[in-house]
Amino acid sequence: MKIEFLKSGDVVDARPTYKDIIRSDAIPAPEWLIADTVPDLGHAGIPATNYTSPEFFQKEIDKVWLKCWQMACREEEIPNVGDYHLYEIVGRSVLIVRTEPNEIKAFINVCTHRGRKLETHDGCKNRFRCVFHGWEWNLDGSFRHNPWAWDFPNVDPNSLALRDIKIGKWGGFVFITFDKDAPPLEDVLKPIPEHFADYQFEDRYIAIHVAKKYPSNWKATAEAFMESHHSIATHPQFMPYLGDANSGYDVFSDYTSRQLTAMAVTSPFIDGSALTQTDIYTAMLASSGRLASDQVADVPEGMTARAFAAQEQRKAMTADNGYDYSNASDAEMLDPMLYNVFPNMSFWAGYSPNIVYRWRPDGVDSSIMDIYMLRRVPKGQARPKPAPVHWLGDDEPFTSAEELGALGGVFEQDMANLPFVQEGLKMMGDEIPVQFAEYTEMRLRQLHQTLRKFIDR
Ligand code: FES
Ligand SMILES: [Fe+2]
Repeated sequence: MKIEFLKSGDVVDARPTYKDIIRSDAIPAPEWLIADTVPDLGHAGIPATNYTSPEFFQKEIDKVWLKCWQMACREEEIPNVGDYHLYEIVGRSVLIVRTEPNEIKAFINVCTHRGRKLETHDGCKNRFRCVFHGWEWNLDGSFRHNPWAWDFPNVDPNSLALRDIKIGKWGGFVFITFDKDAPPLEDVLKPIPEHFADYQFEDRYIAIHVAKKYPSNWKATAEAFMESHHSIATHPQFMPYLGDANSGYDVFSDYTSRQLTAMAVTSPFIDGSALTQTDIYTAMLASSGRLASDQVADVPEGMTARAFAAQEQRKAMTADNGYDYSNASDAEMLDPMLYNVFPNMSFWAGYSPNIVYRWRPDGVDSSIMDIYMLRRVPKGQARPKPAPVHWLGDDEPFTSAEELGALGGVFEQDMANLPFVQEGLKMMGDEIPVQFAEYTEMRLRQLHQTLRKFIDR
């Protein structure tokens, strides 16, 4: 299929808007998906040094990373009493422990004697024991034993408990914050729990988890996944079936935002007049990565590729997990609907397998990206074991993670920009600000504005 881009100078008509598309779908979207929340966030440039300055990065550590809520793991990763998971960020290590069948606690992963890091890998124990001098703690963090206790006559054992970290839970995820005075997690996540109520995130399991370090500031990495603005240049293969220019964006609060993009709708950037509905559907099957079926089929006469794709996805999802999707809207079956939570999390809404992103800083010029794919536990079946993290080495492209299928190539396209973005941001320095589009890059602007609010506190 030949993709004919419009000539430069041609005016692109970004209508119908995403919201118009989903309002008139074969099974229309619910009202909360259609409603607009578009605040005026202005249009000022952003200092490029926010991505490159060690001083700014230190402020982010002190004022943002040690204050904000962050997703540490899934509950399913620590299913049994005694299971623990290490969550590591900005030089801190946190032990997330299942202390009781229905209780999870988090502690700074450090021995309160002379500071050895307590645990170095995930595991399961009935007590924690420091391998340096043998001090011990109970699962609940209380101090248990010091083989040299007689030599610490003035130290109250109660003062030797592991240092508690505040935790929160939503949708099967465990969140932590280092800040005892952080606002309640429920307030930060609004309106996500309400919008995701039908997607049963607690009944999903980690089907895929791939992680990789990248030589780019964490914000540059995150921002590569916060707009549909880059598809035209980075993912030209999307053009026959992705309504990129039609995308909808909403900013709900300092913390949350979303972007919504229609699948099986041709991009306004190309001349789609020669494409049949079957061409659109076929192009989508080849590279979208989230369709439950890869069965090539002709779109029936009189039907749109979008209505057909949604119908096929309902059938394939029912075959996959036994649940009924006959009333699910086309948008919720097909579309990338990315809800972000400040500063570094993105949860895809909808009934199809849900992608989750997490971006962690690893120094000012380096970041770690986690990509999860959550699938619904099939009806009446036991929960599958969560996929362990598949770490990709520096020289291993996302295409080498076979479990990602067609998405591996898409992520590789995204990531290929990032080392050059970081290099370029350094060249911009104080001289040239970064520019964000007023609407389609509004979510990036919100990230910077909230960051500034945290730093100025
Ligand atoms: S440093 Fe842990 S017991 Fe001494
Ligand atoms: Fe992308």
